[in-house]
Amino acid sequence: MAKYKFIIVITALGLFTAAGSAMAQSVTEKGLKDYYKDYFPIGVAVSPGALKDSAEQRLILQQFNSLTPENAMKMGPIHPQENRYNWKDADAIVDFAQAHHLRVRGHNLCWHTQTPDWIFRDKDDKLVSKEILLQRLKDHIHTVVNRYKGKIYAWDVVNEAVSDNNDQLLRNSLWYQICGEDFIFKAFQYAHEADPKAVLFYNDYGTEQPAKRERIYQLLKKMVGAGIPVNAVGLQGHWSVNDPSQENLITTIKRFASLGLKVQITELDISVYQNDKDIDDSDLITERLQKQAEQYAKVFKVFRDYKQYITGVTFWNVSDRHTWLDNFPVRGRKNYPLLFDQNLQPKKAYWGVVNFK
Ligand code: XIL
Repeated sequence: MAKYKFIIVITALGLFTAAGSAMAQSVTEKGLKDYYKDYFPIGVAVSPGALKDSAEQRLILQQFNSLTPENAMKMGPIHPQENRYNWKDADAIVDFAQAHHLRVRGHNLCWHTQTPDWIFRDKDDKLVSKEILLQRLKDHIHTVVNRYKGKIYAWDVVNEAVSDNNDQLLRNSLWYQICGEDFIFKAFQYAHEADPKAVLFYNDYGTEQPAKRERIYQLLKKMVGAGIPVNAVGLQGHWSVNDPSQENLITTIKRFASLGLKVQITELDISVYQNDKDIDDSDLITERLQKQAEQYAKVFKVFRDYKQYITGVTFWNVSDRHTWLDNFPVRGRKNYPLLFDQNLQPKKAYWGVVNFK
């Protein structure tokens, strides 16, 4: 009898432990995309390298359901010479997304940096005419959008065309110098011709800053009024522990939504620094990460509250192991702006994002 009792206790203990570990596993296996399944897709910007690293790959598949190529589809990398496209990296990302049923946001079709030298110049190195530049832009957009038609659901068509300077609306880039504002309108038309189903974005930073927000709003209003096929606005979301306020963020979302546009946060990261002078200091890191967690919780609360307008939130890089902010705006200053630490473990900020209050 005593022997049977012993066996029953051992079996019950075994079942209990098995159930416990299954539960623990399902809890940790739940990712951002699952917590936010009734809200919007959660994406991440990737390089082909991140998809090859098995630990990062596992984390990506566990947490995210959308990818943005961090650099691979920009005009410079993908179209380095007039008659040569470099599809390798972009294809690798799209193929991975297809194999794992992830969405892809295309980034981007027209920007003032990471642009190939040849596009603005003729064989004598002189600037080309507006007609030639628009023809080149058209060929580029048609070729790239067409290649990924049906596999990329949204495109950042024009990136950062609005000026940071309060006395001019548009950035004084070579695109602007040669074409005036037409390059923006034409870029959207070309993208729409190539893939009428793609959701077309105007994407920019500083969108919560009132004066710049107003300039972007004026540009978008003009486009909507003129029937240019723009569907949505991307708030890049390169923010910091003290910026933006919930109030400014809400005003921004509502302002753009009032034009009938959808909104996505396309490049989210929250720098632990408040300005360029702050240095990476181990004595301050606990407090900084605490502030960061609070800021992440605040902005995600706004995203959830305004989910009727928000169709996606994408993080710019996977983890603090590698972030573009390690070299921007201060070269070589390590930053810790994401939800996963350098060992790919969830940070305090992660739990603030998934615990809804
Ligand atoms: C950044 C990439 O993350 C870096 O690897 C690259 O060196 C420079 O560009 N706004 C954008 C993104 O729209 O394309 C930029 O990405 C970050 C700022």
